[in-house]
Amino acid sequence: MDRVFITGASSGLGRALAQQYAARGATLGLLGRREDALRELAGSLPGAHRCYAVDVRDRPALHAAAQDFIAFCQGRVDVVVASAGISAGTLTDHGEDYDVFKAIVDTNLLATVATFEPFIASMRAAGSGRLVGIASVAGVRGLPGAGAYSASKSAVVTYCESLRLELAAQGIQVVTIAPGYIKTAMTAHNPYSMPFLMEADAFAKRAQAAISRGASYTVIPWQMGVVAKLMRLLPNAVYDRLARNAPRKPRKAV
Ligand SMILES: NC(=O)c1ccc[n+]([C@@H]2O[C@H](COP(=O)([O-])OP(=O)(O)OC[C@H]3O[C@@H](n4cnc5c(N)ncnc54)[C@H](OP(=O)(O)O)[C@@H]3O)[C@@H](O)[C@H]2O)c1
Repeated sequence: MDRVFITGASSGLGRALAQQYAARGATLGLLGRREDALRELAGSLPGAHRCYAVDVRDRPALHAAAQDFIAFCQGRVDVVVASAGISAGTLTDHGEDYDVFKAIVDTNLLATVATFEPFIASMRAAGSGRLVGIASVAGVRGLPGAGAYSASKSAVVTYCESLRLELAAQGIQVVTIAPGYIKTAMTAHNPYSMPFLMEADAFAKRAQAAISRGASYTVIPWQMGVVAKLMRLLPNAVYDRLARNAPRKPRKAV
């Protein structure tokens, strides 16, 4: 039976992953800011689970939640998924976007670090465990109007790669998942077409399979993986011509 800690469990990908793991008999630690959404989810799942109404940018509170879950699981947590994340358009020449830029980097990158930190010692002692970073295809190249989001997600990829190398000898696997477009609250109001848009439960099935096999880096759906590979190969001059006028995510306070 898996013991799984998931941030961003109150909605979207985190919620779908929680449902996927619970259906397989897992015990879950469910974290997000909205306590009502977490309790409603926990009540709908088979098994007994712990809910933590915590802002992932509050590192001490996040660590306290992690320690409580580790104790609840008698010292052994198998999988940690850092799915909490936010997205909004940002423009550097709009000074008021700096706070949004910071909130995005704090939530998507630094909170991933803070989520993993408290679990490493017990995973090292057990000689096993999986830490799962949620990146994005938007982190493969810089997207216009989304500097904060693209930068935060490409940083998640490189951070998780560093961590993978650091922890490999201790039996801890680091899995990076880069979703394409998945139907959640985050994509509900995107004012552009979203190729290969996938349902969250279909994503969760594939993500759970990638986590179980300890895949180092997976793009879901696979079609976006092909697009991501091509994007990476394009010379800047070609990429710039194609991406310059791409539709942009609206700017907003987060
Ligand atoms: N959907 C996609 O197409 C897509 C594509 C690529 C990457 N992603 C990534 O997938 C992850 C999940 O996104 P989603 O699509 O599931 O979005 P979502 O439905 O908006 O869910 C975001 C989750 O993050 C939590 N969260 C946000 N800020 C938080 C904070 N400060 N403290 C604690 N929890 C916080 C939210 O919970 P509360 O509001 O309750 O705090 C919610 O549970 C994100 O990292 C996102 O960047 C999504």
